[in-house]
Amino acid sequence: MSDLKKLTGARSRGVLAAVLMLSLGSTAWGAAKKIILDTDPGSDDAMALMLALNSPELDVRAVTVVPGNVTAEMGLENALRMMSLAGRCDIPVAAGAKHPLFQKLITAEFWHGKNGLANVELPPSKCKVDGRYGPDLIIQMVHAAPHEITLVPVGPLTNIALAVLKDPSIVPLVKEVILMGGSVGGGNSTAAAEANIYNDPEAAQIVFQAGWPITMVGLDVGDKTLLTPKYLEQLRQSHGPVNDFIYQVASYLIQLSEQFGSPGSPMYDPLAVGVAIDATLVTAPPMHVEVETHGEFTRGETVANRHGVVERNVLHGDRYIIEGLDKVEPNAKVCLEVDAARFLEMFVSRIRGK
Ligand code: RIB
Ligand code: CA
Repeated sequence: MSDLKKLTGARSRGVLAAVLMLSLGSTAWGAAKKIILDTDPGSDDAMALMLALNSPELDVRAVTVVPGNVTAEMGLENALRMMSLAGRCDIPVAAGAKHPLFQKLITAEFWHGKNGLANVELPPSKCKVDGRYGPDLIIQMVHAAPHEITLVPVGPLTNIALAVLKDPSIVPLVKEVILMGGSVGGGNSTAAAEANIYNDPEAAQIVFQAGWPITMVGLDVGDKTLLTPKYLEQLRQSHGPVNDFIYQVASYLIQLSEQFGSPGSPMYDPLAVGVAIDATLVTAPPMHVEVETHGEFTRGETVANRHGVVERNVLHGDRYIIEGLDKVEPNAKVCLEVDAARFLEMFVSRIRGK
């Protein structure tokens, strides 16, 4: 057999193998990662969802909706319309909590537009809502696929906390929680608190103390990952239903950012999906994180212990004396650095032409 035939034979076998693997939901580097996206859509949520649906490394098993950027009702409608646009009515979309665990909901139409999707009106959905309650769906899917499901919450952590409260046995069965939320360098809702945590601090504290593997994709990396007009132009030059929708959303967000003096729009939620795709995009040292739920100025702050120890103060008469250091076990990997250019190129490459 000639070398050419050998080569073309080998190449066609390789292409066939790749097509077969992708069709079976796997990739050259292994089976696609099963994820449940918990979202408050939300304009950057929209970009996160479309990235997840267009990445062969991920197998989106369900979308659960949580109130945050918009009400639970608006968020569900937005999620259903986006899944329909993406042609993915095969993936269950379930409603979740109606409000945070204790406090009143704070909605963010100010940042996301009246409908939460940058005022882009999508066609009515062809998808039907799944009848299960979001936290119940999470519990059910985790038990059905133990040690395989990665939870990717990109809104307030209400649904995730409700799932843990209802069935703590899911904690050791969840592969990982990769959440967009928190910050170790100050907040965006207040001086101290990031929006997702601020919208339900009690839920966040339950999630951070549950004992499962957490990667915190916070403002510390989101604010370094800005979608700028350079990337927007790449999406303007290509077309497709998802491409054109994301172009409109991104245009809205970039214009809004420019009004506030920023060169681009922070890719908060999409980056959390990016970390689920490729954890090498970030540097995330382990730290112990607590969520402040009482502070007058700091409610909703994710308080990270970078040193892993606390001083041991022992009472002697009318004063305490420091008599040592006590180790505090890390409960999260906290993202501090990001390869922003590599992520943004990944994002655009997955959305272009879809
Ligand atoms: O602080 C940013 C987070 O708050 C993002 O998830 C955004 O969608 C909003 O929910
Ligand atoms: Ca969000």
